[in-house]
Amino acid sequence: MERSLLVTLLALLWAGSMAGQDNRVTLDIQRQYLNLPVSHSVDRAVMRFQVDGQTERSFLIRLAPEEADYWVFADVSAFVGKTLTILYDGDPAGLERIYQESKIRDEEKLYREKNRPQFHFTARRGWINDPNGLIFYDGEYHLFFQHNPYEREWENMHWGHAVSTDLVHWTELPEALYPDELGTMFSGSAVIDYGNDAGFNEESSPAMLAFYTADSPDRQVQCMAYSLDCGRTWTKYDGNPLIDSKEVWNSKDTRDPKVFRYEPGGHWVMVLNERDGHSIYTSANLKEWTYQSHITGFWECPELFELPVDGDPANTMWVMYGASGTYMLGQFDGKVFTPSHGKYYYTSGTVYAAQTFTNIPAEDGRRIQIGWGRVDQPGMPFNGMMLLPTELTLRTTKDGPRLFSVPVREVERLFTLQEEHRGFTQREANEILSVVGDPECLRIKTTIKLSHATNAGLSLNGRNIIDYDLNSNMLNGMFYSPQDMTSTELTADIFIDRTSVEVFIDGGVYSYSLERTGRPGDISGLHFWGNNIQVQHLALYSVDNIW
Ligand code: FRU
Repeated sequence: MERSLLVTLLALLWAGSMAGQDNRVTLDIQRQYLNLPVSHSVDRAVMRFQVDGQTERSFLIRLAPEEADYWVFADVSAFVGKTLTILYDGDPAGLERIYQESKIRDEEKLYREKNRPQFHFTARRGWINDPNGLIFYDGEYHLFFQHNPYEREWENMHWGHAVSTDLVHWTELPEALYPDELGTMFSGSAVIDYGNDAGFNEESSPAMLAFYTADSPDRQVQCMAYSLDCGRTWTKYDGNPLIDSKEVWNSKDTRDPKVFRYEPGGHWVMVLNERDGHSIYTSANLKEWTYQSHITGFWECPELFELPVDGDPANTMWVMYGASGTYMLGQFDGKVFTPSHGKYYYTSGTVYAAQTFTNIPAEDGRRIQIGWGRVDQPGMPFNGMMLLPTELTLRTTKDGPRLFSVPVREVERLFTLQEEHRGFTQREANEILSVVGDPECLRIKTTIKLSHATNAGLSLNGRNIIDYDLNSNMLNGMFYSPQDMTSTELTADIFIDRTSVEVFIDGGVYSYSLERTGRPGDISGLHFWGNNIQVQHLALYSVDNIW
C-alpha cells in the first residue's frame, strides 16, 4: 500500500469515534489534571480527547462506572483555557466521575504506599517497562520510559519522563511522547545534536533528539522528535517515519532504534532490531538513513558501545546486546559490527531491555546502564520498576574479556553500615540475621565459604536469594564458575527493597535480580543454609528512601 494512503488511513482510524452523544462529556479546562477512575472489572475501551473537533489524544482505559480500583490522571495543561470533549466507547457511566483538579487524586499518599519500592524508580501511576532515551544533558540525567499512564498493565505506550541530578533521586515529569496517528510510542534512544546536523537547533540550545518506534496494528516504523527545552516538550518531525522496513524483512518486528554518533566516521549510527537480529544504519543528517549491515541472534532493544578493556583506552572492544542482556564482544568500523567473543550473559532474572546513557561527559567517561525490573508491585496503582543504575566495564578474566556490572558509586550514599562481622559460623551469622528478622529494606554484603561442593546459600522468607551449587556450578539456575575455579567462596552484594532483590556476585562479574516473593505467609527473614558453611564476612547496611 502506498505510504501516504496508509498514513491517512491510520490517521482516520485514530481520530474516528464510535461514541454517540451520550458517550461524551465536555469540560472547560482550568486545572492541570484530569483524574480518572479505573476498574479492572470492566473491559478496556477507547477514550478520545478532542479540542475543536480534532482528536488530540486517543487511548484505551478501563473507566470505572462505579467503584474504582484506583485513580489515574491525565496532564491536560496543554488544554487550559480550551474546551475539551472526552469521548468514550465503553460504559459511559464513568464519564461523569472524571474531574479536573490542580493535583492528582491521592497525591498526599504518593510515595508512601505500602508496596512502593524505596530506592528504585517507579512511576506515580501506571505501568512501566523499558528505559528509553537515557541521556545526560546540562546537569541532568534523563530517564524516559515505556509508560501506560492509564493502567497498571501494559498498553497505550507513551514515553514517560523523569530527571535526576544524581542518578538516585528522580523527579517524574509529564509524559514526553504521546501516541499519534502513526501509533503508540515504543522504545528508543536520545542524542544531542551539537553540530545541528538535523537542523532543529536554536541559537541558545542544541536540540535533544528522540528516536522511537511508532507501533500500529499493521507495522512498526522509526521516527524522530526534537526538544529545545531539555526534554520538557517535544515536537515530532514532520517527515516521519524515517524508516519503514516491514516489507524488506517480511516481518512487523522492526523496532527500538539506538542512535549514537560515531566520531571516527563523523556520522550517526542507528542500531535497530529487525526480525532476527540487529541492523546498522548510518546517517549524516539524522533524517535519511542508509542500511549497512545486520547481525542475527538478538531480539528487541539493541545496544552497541565501545569500552576499554581493563581501563586501557588503547585497547577497546565493542559490546552488542539485546533485550535479554546476552552480549557479543567485537569490533565496529562505523558500519559493520564483527563479533569475536560471545555470546555470554552478565546478568539475568527480572532485568530486561537495559539501556546505557549517551552524552556522559568525557571527564566522567563511565558507561552507565539502567535496566527494567520486571517486578510486580502487588495491589499498587503502578507496576514495574527500574533497577539500580550500574556502571559497565570490560575486564580480563580467566575466560577472556567479560562485561562487569556494579551499582554506580552515587547509590552508596543511600546505605549506612550498621554492623560488620568476620569469620562467623553459619549458626553465629544466623543469630545476627534472626535479630534483623524480615527486613523492609536492607543491603547485605557477605562472603560465604562452602565446606562441601553441594548447594548452599542465603534465603529470604523461605526463598533462596543465593543458591550456589559447586557440584554443577549453578548459581540460582545459571552456570557460574568463579575466577579461581577451585574456590569454595562466593561474595555477594545484595540489595533488598520492598518488592525486589538485586544481587551482584564477586565484584560484578555476574548479577541477577528477583521479585521479592517468599513462601506464602513466611516471615522468617534471612537465613544462611547449606552443609556447615562459613560466613567469612557479613555487613549489614540501613537504607535511605529516595522519595
Ligand atoms: C521490550 C519491548 C520493546 C518495545 C517495547 C514496547 O520490552 O517489547 O521491543 O519497543 O517493549 O513497550
